[in-house]
Amino acid sequence: MTNQAVAELIARSNRLGADPKNTNYAGGNASAKGTETDPVTGDPVELLWVKGSGGDLGTLTEAGLAVLRLDRMRALVDVYTGVDREDEMVAAFDFCLHGKGGAAPSIDTAMHGLVDAVHVDHLHPDAGIAIATAADGEALTKEIFGDRVVWVPWRRPGFQLGLDIAAIKADHPQAVGCILGGHGITAWGDTSEECEASSLWIIETAAAYIAQHSRAEPFGPSLDGYAALPRAERRARAAALAPTIRGIASADRPMVGHFTDDDVVLDFLASAEHPRLAALGTSCPDHFLRTKVKPLVLDLPATATLEESIARLGELAAAYREDYQGYYDRHAAPDSPPIRGKDPLIVLVPGVGMFSYGKDKQTARVAGEFYVNAINVMRGAEGLSTYAPIAESEKFRIEYWALEEAKLQRMPRPKPLATRIALVTGAASGIGKATAEKLAAEGACVVIADLSLEKAEEAAAAIGQAVGGGADVAAGVQVDVSDADAVQAMVDAAVLAFGGLDLVVNNAGLSLSKSLLETTEEDWDRQHDVMAKGSFLVARAAARVLIEQGMGGDIVYISSKNSVFAGPNNLAYGAAKADQAHQVRLLAAELGEHGVKVNGVNPDGVVQGSGIFAGGWGAQRAAVYGVEEKDLGAFYAQRTILKREVLPEHIANAVFVLCGPDLTHTTGLHVPVDAGVAAAFLR
Ligand SMILES: NC(=O)c1ccc[n+]([C@@H]2O[C@H](COP(=O)([O-])OP(=O)(O)OC[C@H]3O[C@@H](n4cnc5c(N)ncnc54)[C@H](O)[C@@H]3O)[C@@H](O)[C@H]2O)c1
Ligand SMILES: [Zn+2]
Repeated sequence: MTNQAVAELIARSNRLGADPKNTNYAGGNASAKGTETDPVTGDPVELLWVKGSGGDLGTLTEAGLAVLRLDRMRALVDVYTGVDREDEMVAAFDFCLHGKGGAAPSIDTAMHGLVDAVHVDHLHPDAGIAIATAADGEALTKEIFGDRVVWVPWRRPGFQLGLDIAAIKADHPQAVGCILGGHGITAWGDTSEECEASSLWIIETAAAYIAQHSRAEPFGPSLDGYAALPRAERRARAAALAPTIRGIASADRPMVGHFTDDDVVLDFLASAEHPRLAALGTSCPDHFLRTKVKPLVLDLPATATLEESIARLGELAAAYREDYQGYYDRHAAPDSPPIRGKDPLIVLVPGVGMFSYGKDKQTARVAGEFYVNAINVMRGAEGLSTYAPIAESEKFRIEYWALEEAKLQRMPRPKPLATRIALVTGAASGIGKATAEKLAAEGACVVIADLSLEKAEEAAAAIGQAVGGGADVAAGVQVDVSDADAVQAMVDAAVLAFGGLDLVVNNAGLSLSKSLLETTEEDWDRQHDVMAKGSFLVARAAARVLIEQGMGGDIVYISSKNSVFAGPNNLAYGAAKADQAHQVRLLAAELGEHGVKVNGVNPDGVVQGSGIFAGGWGAQRAAVYGVEEKDLGAFYAQRTILKREVLPEHIANAVFVLCGPDLTHTTGLHVPVDAGVAAAFLR
């Protein structure tokens, strides 16, 4: 049965972590101490349960706790020789573990184990960090909290910080917690309720003090021309800038993006002090590990033209890279890990909003959330005093800390399509849906575009759930691919959802089986509008993004066996498919210079899951061949060389191969996925 102290710890952690004013995502940690029976001796043993490395308080479960023997953990004090050896203590935590279960102990374990209180919280609340980063934070702490909260000068998290806080608790019996300079807060209590009350009291008292004592306009007066553009205009501007900015953020390695036009960001960028403050960078270690030491800020008003903004961003990107190299060179020691990339993770555009980047959507989104936290921190600190983040050299000591490097090295190998953003048209059904599923399962972010928004969102939700990651993995958008404006809106939505585009699948289609004499102009136009014209419109809108990003890309056409095979009752469909098939060759020839590959897949006889077959085509085909509609798949299988039925996932697999990591030197190719139809062999 779960230990009572553990149950209380989990409940408290979940409550604290659920409210963003208490701590940032995955930021901070909480612990409890208690007794269990040692299975080896049958004697009682004192344990420390503490949130493990990398977990999130809001969603913490027992499996996310590191469990240590308190006597062994505390015995480390006797072998500790000083701050220059403190990293060895973190390595020694593994020798204090109680059993094999549980998460890896984090760097903050020492603070929790060494402080003499049953329950301990360490949190990163914006209001607390505002006090912690105020130039006169120590005096403010006294003024706000009297002797109940003690100031701890900045120190990199680790064993020594744990000893410092333990000493403070021992020396100040009336204190319920402390403000950790430059960083956050720690609070304690003999019961879980007492500890939670201490944490909340510190956070609420700090927030109330800031609200009451902050000067008006902590970020200075508003700047002419820097006010937020009207919503529709700034979204359009964001979509137009996103490819350039993603290209900038991905110069060293490809990144997924997140965009927000939160008021907090727009207000900051509209105020006079934002360039000075942004250049000072973030302070809480959690913040700058995700946001880099500082953002790239476009130093043009919102009234600048798109062309001016794009040109200036290019210059600023080059300067940013030089500046980051300078930061690395100034602080790197001979044993520092190599530089990890010089591109910004946060790009701020006045009047428009913030672009944030990461190795996947969740990381990119959280980086943006952390910069919003950092803006709140700066507002609080500037309102009371002057914002004074930790020194650049200290930021470097954390960013390139051997323990951070080890954490990065432990990360699982990325999936083959990680960082790639896919857009699949007609993806609410059949082949398109299977393709979106496959691409997402292989690590891509996918945009599901289809005629019905509801069905597109349903398919996206199902994929988000199957792959894990929800809206961070798949988004649904409405489109009629035969409408140029709708196609542009779809591409804009995709770019705003994930930062850009890499992989475009022209799959939307429909099929009407009619003889020449029965085919109406409308039949002809409709099929050509959706397939021939539709894929042209999608390719054109997407190629603008691909070219602007400068990161290459893939366009895959789902054409058909019928693009080469000739049979009766198929004029309009077959001709539209042949048109699509030749677009593949034409665009492969044209877009190659931008690193964009264009290939096609020729499916045949995909009955299961296909809306085309369910919507009448199947019945007609079955009638033509004199079989029952339900046996059509098996009938088609018997006609093939391999005698196998073709399923949507077989087409999806071919799309993956064409744009996956192995087929990097192939463009202008069509891959038949038809179980072998000699009459449709390509030559
Ligand atoms: N099923 C097969 O045997 C087969 C064989 C060869 C080629 N194909 C091609 O594969 C593609 C997918 O076919 P499927 O069998 O999965 O059919 P499907 O009907 O299950 O899926 C097609 C999807 O495209 C969407 N769509 C139609 N018109 C659209 C428009 N104007 N804008 C946006 N979306 C639109 C539909 O709503 C539908 O969700 C088609 O291009 C089809 O021609 C299918
Ligand atoms: Zn912390």
